[in-house]
Amino acid sequence: MDGNGRWATARGKNRSFGHRAGSANVDRIVSHAFSKGVKSLTLYAFSSENWARPKEEVDELMKLLKTYFKKFIKKVVKSDVRLVVVGGREQLSADLKKVIEDGEKQSEKNTAHYLNIAINYGGRQEIVSAVKKVLSKGEEVTEQSISANLYTAQSGDPDLIIRTGGELRLSNFLLYQGAYSELYFTDVLWPDFDEKEFDKALEEFSGRKRRFGKI
Ligand code: IPE
Ligand code: MG
Repeated sequence: MDGNGRWATARGKNRSFGHRAGSANVDRIVSHAFSKGVKSLTLYAFSSENWARPKEEVDELMKLLKTYFKKFIKKVVKSDVRLVVVGGREQLSADLKKVIEDGEKQSEKNTAHYLNIAINYGGRQEIVSAVKKVLSKGEEVTEQSISANLYTAQSGDPDLIIRTGGELRLSNFLLYQGAYSELYFTDVLWPDFDEKEFDKALEEFSGRKRRFGKI
């Protein structure tokens, strides 16, 4: 979900204004994606590298995440969505952790859709921690055992990864899970990425030939 800052700057506003618009867009796209039959959706909300931003911006993002979760939990639980936060939990504030844990607990029996929110997430760190978990259980390190110990074990690998905001890179997102994902990049900034833009991405995806290394 990239491009909030530039979206705000283009309107002569501060970056926080963009993050608020971006967080309002999450609701719209999540509902739309699930209504289109998407089973699992992972949103990259805050990377393990985003802590290096100015403190005011980090504080604002954390505040937004907390408000977002509170509002969202009720809705998620009612609509049979299982909410999971992926990423390192330790660095988050106690009150954000509490809100996240409540949301996960209240939705843990839901099965219609998976909604993973990546907060303090980094793909490399996730792989390292998965391998450590495998070893600590005395299991053999295999592709399957690593997969089973990733944060996303419950929801599997993504078919499609969408990046808004014009950059052509993964920025440490779902490195292991994304080995055979189709990639879709658009210049549209996240707050402007609406239902129509989402449908364009799905449309393009439906025309891709996925060969998984075969011919
Ligand atoms: C949102 O967009 C990504 C988050 C970390 C929330 P940015 O804040 O990276 O926006 P740009 O790239 O500066 O426009
Ligand atoms: Mg950015």
